[in-house]
Amino acid sequence: MQLLDGKFLSAQVKAEIKAEVDKIKAEGGKTPHLAAILVGNNGASETYVASKIKSCEEVGFKSTLVRLPETTSEAEVLSHIEALNNDADIDGFIVQLPLPSHISENTVMEAVAPEKDVDGFHPINVGRMCKGLPAYISATPFGILEMLKRYNIDTAGKHCVVVGRSQIVGLPMGILMQRNTAPGNATVTICHSRTHNLKEVCQSADILIAALGRPEFITADYVKEGAVVIDVGITRVVDESKKSGFAIKGDVKFDEVAPKSSYITPVPGGVGLMTICGLMTNTLLASKKAIFK
Ligand code: GUN
Repeated sequence: MQLLDGKFLSAQVKAEIKAEVDKIKAEGGKTPHLAAILVGNNGASETYVASKIKSCEEVGFKSTLVRLPETTSEAEVLSHIEALNNDADIDGFIVQLPLPSHISENTVMEAVAPEKDVDGFHPINVGRMCKGLPAYISATPFGILEMLKRYNIDTAGKHCVVVGRSQIVGLPMGILMQRNTAPGNATVTICHSRTHNLKEVCQSADILIAALGRPEFITADYVKEGAVVIDVGITRVVDESKKSGFAIKGDVKFDEVAPKSSYITPVPGGVGLMTICGLMTNTLLASKKAIFK
């Protein structure tokens, strides 16, 4: 078993981005600038946004955080989006999800200008990705592809089972894994809560991507000997022994699955760190106008 080490890889990717940003600055170019809108006080979202801002500092980007109270109306959020769409210094921005229930995530995602949509959530970016056209690839699938690429894991012709059909992970992951690219060219099955015989389907996976958001759901009996196991789960579970009062659990029961797998991502220290690299990469692409010319 080999660990897919997100800590090591993300440091490598960030160093590459920083080198490019340093060069842009040395040549008198514009410093890439990412903004984030955070509505309310969701604890996990606070943590994610803080690490996105910290990563901006590490790679030499400017960052702006727009913090809005839980009670902010949808119209107010849309007016902040409009302002960022029209701000020439902002290369790209994200609206952290989930949003309070009185705000439509679809309406918000569609309001972000596609050329600044570094989350890759706008239908134009999703559609372009499906067609294999230049597009911002959403951060988590991007991070997973980067891990597979940098560990030289061959995916062509393999059976890739994605558990979870979310708009931001499962769905794009399935599309990207079947594309005629490397990584890609896999035979993909997307599973969800209505899938019959989920365990049997997972047992046939050469590459198993767990993105269902249920802590330690994937146990050893779901996994074929020698499979590549990618764990996208990051759920906070109560743990009184921790100072924070919670522990982070993946969707995979690591201790029993790891000995059966050829490669596996740990949680924490796996996909989560690579996700931020996806966002940093997209912001750099946005600042270079590399996707929407
Ligand atoms: N919430 C969980 N993951 C993400 C992400 O990749 N982007 C945004 N904006 N919100 C999230």
